[in-house]
Amino acid sequence: MPKCIKVYKKYAETLRRLLLSRGFLDTEYRITIDKDYVLIPIVEHRSLDLIHDIIEKYNAEIITNCTLEHYRMRKKELKPPSYDMVGDIAIVREKVVENKKEEIIETLKQLHPRLKAIYVKEYTTGIHRTAKLRLLWGNEVDHVIHKEYGLRFYIDIHNVYYNPRLSTEHRRIAEDIRNGELVIDLFCGIGGFTLHATALKRITVIANDINPYAIYCLLKSIILNKKRLKGDIILSINDAYKIHSILKEKIADRIIANLPHSSHLFWNTYNYLSHRNTILHLYSIASTEKDLLSFMEKYLEKYLWDIMGVRKVLDYSPYRYIYRVDLVKL
Ligand SMILES: C[S@@+](CC[C@H](N)C(=O)[O-])C[C@H]1O[C@@H](n2cnc3c(N)ncnc32)[C@H](O)[C@@H]1O
Repeated sequence: MPKCIKVYKKYAETLRRLLLSRGFLDTEYRITIDKDYVLIPIVEHRSLDLIHDIIEKYNAEIITNCTLEHYRMRKKELKPPSYDMVGDIAIVREKVVENKKEEIIETLKQLHPRLKAIYVKEYTTGIHRTAKLRLLWGNEVDHVIHKEYGLRFYIDIHNVYYNPRLSTEHRRIAEDIRNGELVIDLFCGIGGFTLHATALKRITVIANDINPYAIYCLLKSIILNKKRLKGDIILSINDAYKIHSILKEKIADRIIANLPHSSHLFWNTYNYLSHRNTILHLYSIASTEKDLLSFMEKYLEKYLWDIMGVRKVLDYSPYRYIYRVDLVKL
């Protein structure tokens, strides 16, 4: 059992620094607040005699058996299931829950004291790619505010697609974009790429999605982040197949096409929107990079695009991955 020192809050920071400087702080565990006290984990192997003076000075107490009462501090010993935090709700997969319902609930509550609900993601469905969520614990929630890199995202969890594991990818693309570009985020969802990009660059993004709930969320997020956004965002609720009826041709400096199941069905749209040197970030699912490239080959020849690079972005299912192919218009 790990040991910890229980000390009044007002002395906690001073004591923590002292313990750290003398090699007593156990950084494997989390420092936890317990009402008026703070519980600071200390390493097992150092003799307690050495810190008795310190303890007395700060009116603290050594707890040698951190059991249930202090369980929360034992972050690294709790074995959380694979899960995603979206705002203050946790989402777990159906197969993770099976016979471990109570254990999962307890673990997630310990790790996230402000947790409002735990949902099980049963499957992703329909053209809007929304998740079918079943409440496992807590109160029903309809939307959350989720933070990524200091940006706040309004997410209607039952009616839009959202995957927090894409945040690094959203940021990576945003960093690549150059000031002055006109970017079309063709399947923008709640605007992960769009918001990161306009937070970093002076650009114009046309953010399009067929799902009006997704665009509503993006609008809410624009308002939440309005002081942080440098670029302009034009919202569009349209089927990407029909985008030619509302947008002029050849206007895009960059197109983001994150619809991995069917991004290969929109070549006419990409070509309509592109001029020479337009960049297209196309997301697609495959088992290997080789498979992906042989699948893409016929389209690239027919529609005249050249490959700049390929990157594995996320696991999709066992042995299948989401890749990003970066293309340039010839
Ligand atoms: C995989 S999600 C990607 C969301 C977002 N780009 C992201 O990175 O989080 C795909 C999105 O494409 C939208 N979509 C599907 N078919 C579409 C179409 N024909 N035209 C426009 N949007 C479409 C869905 O509503 C969904 O929001």
